[in-house]
Amino acid sequence: MTDIVLAQIGVGLIGQTVIEQVIEQRARWERDFGLRVIYRALIDASGGVACDEKNGYSNDELAAFVAHRRSGGRVATLPEEFGWTKRTAAEALTLTQPFGPVIAIDTAAGSTTAELLGSNLSNGGGAVLSNKAPLALPSSDPVAQLLWSESGFNGRTRYETTCGAGLPVISTVRSLLASGDDVTEVVGALSGTLGAIFTDVDAGKPFSQAVVDAKAAGFTEPDPRDDLSGLDVARKALILARNIGIPVELDQIEIENLVPDHLRETGVDDFLNSIDEVDAAIAQRADAARGKGARLKYVATVSAGMPIAVGLREIPLDTVLGSLTGPENIITIRSKRYAANPINITGPGAGAAVTAAGVVADTLELATTLSE
Ligand SMILES: NC(=O)c1ccc[n+]([C@@H]2O[C@H](COP(=O)([O-])OP(=O)(O)OC[C@H]3O[C@@H](n4cnc5c(N)ncnc54)[C@H](OP(=O)(O)O)[C@@H]3O)[C@@H](O)[C@H]2O)c1
Repeated sequence: MTDIVLAQIGVGLIGQTVIEQVIEQRARWERDFGLRVIYRALIDASGGVACDEKNGYSNDELAAFVAHRRSGGRVATLPEEFGWTKRTAAEALTLTQPFGPVIAIDTAAGSTTAELLGSNLSNGGGAVLSNKAPLALPSSDPVAQLLWSESGFNGRTRYETTCGAGLPVISTVRSLLASGDDVTEVVGALSGTLGAIFTDVDAGKPFSQAVVDAKAAGFTEPDPRDDLSGLDVARKALILARNIGIPVELDQIEIENLVPDHLRETGVDDFLNSIDEVDAAIAQRADAARGKGARLKYVATVSAGMPIAVGLREIPLDTVLGSLTGPENIITIRSKRYAANPINITGPGAGAAVTAAGVVADTLELATTLSE
């Protein structure tokens, strides 16, 4: 029997869904694969809790924790009757180390989790991330160096869900590289939000209305500028580039920010009330694309020897990328062996169930590597 010792950093939508999938599946993994999942620490931005019981947190305890978070609670506000001692995140992680090697699952947001990941890797553990930010840190950062140095075939870093959620993008590229292929280009529509918005624009809807509708449908971040700035797509492009061995920093990526300069610092409502000022310019670009048998798409282009860029492009309708509509992601991978006919991976690039499942799959695979 192989023990998988977990410390989970980040227990929002994705983190909670990971816990629920573990609760649902762990008896089967134990029976069918000989893998026993032991939850030792749970960490959010307010602190952490750790468990030194032989089998870690029970399913009932994990379910109670998720219910607490779902009702708006945080680690710092766990009720006394839980009987869990509240600690700092670093303390909670340190308490897991004697039970290691520990897999730190980073389903948080932002780069402040990097220190925890670095400390866990330095202790011989592993890292599974859905959080892009630590991987997008400057390559001079010691944790970024550690994470990337462990990102190879048998390494201790796994990050499938950072680009395309549950879609097998990183693993496909990894398999190609491991087999000796040379990945020359990855082009992708990697933002479901921008996919939905520009499908509406293509159908004639004003850009501002498409943004408002995407927000109402729950496709955008609470502040839609987080999607429209292109930064999230740029982080994915950076991860794809480093994944195929192109050294790049975030500030070297050409990013088309769809938010006009003077609307970047205003309140969200002011922004939404003024965004119609770019409608005419975007409609003109959409018309021009249509005139050429193409449609506008917000695309990341990662190609060896070319500047890495994310922005609006005219994509011919007769290509797989151009035929895609709505919030689906599509990633086209060209390599030495797949030069004339590239590999296309398409499907939902966001969502709690598929992303959590990708995190869980990375964790199971990494546990097998760690136990070898
Ligand atoms: N949603 C998707 O479909 C999807 C798909 C692929 C990848 N991702 C990525 O997965 C991550 C999680 O997404 P989500 O939708 O679950 O976000 P979320 O609901 O906002 O949850 C974020 C979680 O991170 C915690 N957190 C923030 N800073 C932290 C810190 N310094 N230390 C510990 N915990 C911290 C938050 O804690 P508090 O609640 O205490 O603030 C919260 O529990 C994000 O990085 C996202 O980009 C999401």
